[in-house]
Amino acid sequence: MKKNTLLLAILLPLASIIAQSSTTIDRKVNNLLAKMTLEEKIGQMNQYNGFWNFTGPSPKGGDAAYKYQNLASGKVGSMLNVRGVKQVKEVQKIAVEQSRLGIPLIIGFDLIHGYETVSPIPLAESASWDIAAIEKSAALGAKEASAAGINWTFAPMVDITRDARWGRVMEGAGEDPYLGSLIAAARVRGFQGENLDDIHSIAACAKHFAAYGFAEGGRDYNTVDIGLNTLHNIVLPPFKAAADAGVKTFMNSFNDLNGIPATADRYLQREILKEEWGFDGFVVSDWGSLREMIDHGYAKDRKHAGELALNGGSDMDMESYIYLDYIETLLKEGKVSQAQIDDAVARILRVKFELGLFEDPYKYCDEEREKTVIGSKEILDGALDMAKKSIVLLKNEKQTLPLKKEGQKIALIGPLAADKNSPLGNWRIAAADNSAVSVLEGLNAYKGNAITHEQGVKLVNKIPAGFHEEVDINTTDRAGMEEAVAAAKEADVVVMVLGEYGFQSGEGRSRAHLDLPGFQQELLEKVHAVNSNIVLVVMNGRPLVLNWAAENIPAIVEAWHLGTQSGHAIAQVLYGDYNPSGKLPMSFPRSVGQMPLYYNQKSTGRPGADGEDAGSVFWSHYGDERNSALFPFGYGLSYTSFDYSDIRLSDNKMNRDGSITAQVDVTNSGKIDGKEVVQLYLYDHHASATRPTRELKGFKLIELKAGETKTVEFKIDQERLKFYNGAQKWEAEPGDFSLYIGTDSTTKRRADFVLQ
Ligand code: BGC
Repeated sequence: MKKNTLLLAILLPLASIIAQSSTTIDRKVNNLLAKMTLEEKIGQMNQYNGFWNFTGPSPKGGDAAYKYQNLASGKVGSMLNVRGVKQVKEVQKIAVEQSRLGIPLIIGFDLIHGYETVSPIPLAESASWDIAAIEKSAALGAKEASAAGINWTFAPMVDITRDARWGRVMEGAGEDPYLGSLIAAARVRGFQGENLDDIHSIAACAKHFAAYGFAEGGRDYNTVDIGLNTLHNIVLPPFKAAADAGVKTFMNSFNDLNGIPATADRYLQREILKEEWGFDGFVVSDWGSLREMIDHGYAKDRKHAGELALNGGSDMDMESYIYLDYIETLLKEGKVSQAQIDDAVARILRVKFELGLFEDPYKYCDEEREKTVIGSKEILDGALDMAKKSIVLLKNEKQTLPLKKEGQKIALIGPLAADKNSPLGNWRIAAADNSAVSVLEGLNAYKGNAITHEQGVKLVNKIPAGFHEEVDINTTDRAGMEEAVAAAKEADVVVMVLGEYGFQSGEGRSRAHLDLPGFQQELLEKVHAVNSNIVLVVMNGRPLVLNWAAENIPAIVEAWHLGTQSGHAIAQVLYGDYNPSGKLPMSFPRSVGQMPLYYNQKSTGRPGADGEDAGSVFWSHYGDERNSALFPFGYGLSYTSFDYSDIRLSDNKMNRDGSITAQVDVTNSGKIDGKEVVQLYLYDHHASATRPTRELKGFKLIELKAGETKTVEFKIDQERLKFYNGAQKWEAEPGDFSLYIGTDSTTKRRADFVLQ
């Protein structure tokens, strides 16, 4: 009793402070709105790309002058891609000191995985299954970017995706909505911190709303056609999690969803997001996505696009200039309402107030802070820590790994072995080219072995200029192959670093083939023919088809694009100074023909046994490939081994409002300490809408000393069993359930219970 009273005594004033501060902000927003002209209101809904050259200001003629003038007259609410204290200050100064009301700009930037210091690509970070580490990584990114004047990131991307052909899988958390939701919330917390007006906090943006990851054929920007069941059960949960975590903004998406471009989708933006979820931040369009509705064949012209977008719930126009040009006319014609405009502007102003920009528009513009924070030891150490946690050990036979630290002749081979650019991955706008630690440098930091390095073959013909150029893969020049084979012959162990060039994944980087690009497969086989003692390090932004390697190479390390500290992280794993514990957040296919591939599939009316003769042709399968993944979701090895006991259920009946517990004992049965992700999957056998045969519903990342046993317990209650059902409601339905606990999504350790 006493405790409760004490708690109330603390909580009540706190609640009233929160309520007060939000009403204070509402009051400030309303006061300001009352002073604004229509033109100024529309200005807040307009966002421009930067018009500064990266090396210095150049607001000269043409487009730049037009934007400059608009900034000064209050016709711009936000800018993106203006970065660095000096440049941010300059645009902010124009907005604050020259416009009539001096409303500060909100400065947006794609802080996708770090700023100048690059952390692993988001897909890689997701492979850590370490929610606290992911949150910290986002927080460090925010710290560095905020020191460079940025106060809003277009991240996290929370698009669930099941198709490795889609290049943007590198930006997300993979294929699972449960894992994706936890990661979405963690990234929002990391970026926004405890208080948004903290100097290290920036506003986050959940994108792309919605279903962008379901582009047909994995081809970027392509049509999306999915039903309500998939939309609500698979696509929306991470967005909801981001909204619940207090994300301040949403970005809509380029795709059309079931015939309606997301930018104009009322159902998504108004009904679900703003009404049902009560989201009080603002929605920004994607780059030019208002204008693109004309190409979609949905808007007849730019003016019509503006009408559709505002009615659909898009509050800010990124780089279409359509709101600026047409809202006034649309209002006069009664095609949009004053209330819609006021609502959009109020949402934008609210976030600016919450960031503390009105109190000090230059709060992120401290040159001293910029110098000390960017590239600081704290941030570099964080990137290294996250990189190690992101690595997944896919195969390790004959104790090939860890490598011996002394007395070995190592041949380091492959076009990515000394590459200092690719490990940075895509979306690393602020990082200097070639600023990553390469694998060669990482291995050279260890002195005990003799390392010879051969590129083998060249991967690209010409280094692309950032993300604006197509990657030109070398398919003609085999120079270097012979030297690599010769070096391999002489070596005790060969470390091969193969995979995708850093800009081969990301926006606009869809692939129809998922194998090792260029001559890399040939190189691998030629080297293997003379020395099969190979450790294959794969660098990539998406799942690849690695069948031959999985069969023939004794050790495979999935090293993604791990960022600035890449080479050190990989070397520490190869030498056993860090015991890998990552688990795949996406299924790795056997063939591109399996796309879309995901573990949480439904049974179909014709289920069969994967890899076994089902005794008939007429079941859901391919005649020339297995159904299952080569490396499944949740899979990843360690240098030690873990044994699981059977599952103990507290009861095999559960009441609707009750709960049961499931326990397993996990033992580190190897000789070194290690970490394991203990995973819980559920299967609802029959329901008012068909359910996947298993769905991740919990996991625990545990550390076990060699020989140690820990009991891991999961509580199962109604919340974990709810889904968007046949009646279009989130409900748990009574009936038979199975529960699986194990080391990956294929575990057979099972217990059954009934929800009464
Ligand atoms: C991408 C967004 C990004 C925006 C601004 C678009 O092309 O789809 O994810 O935030 O550009 O750079």
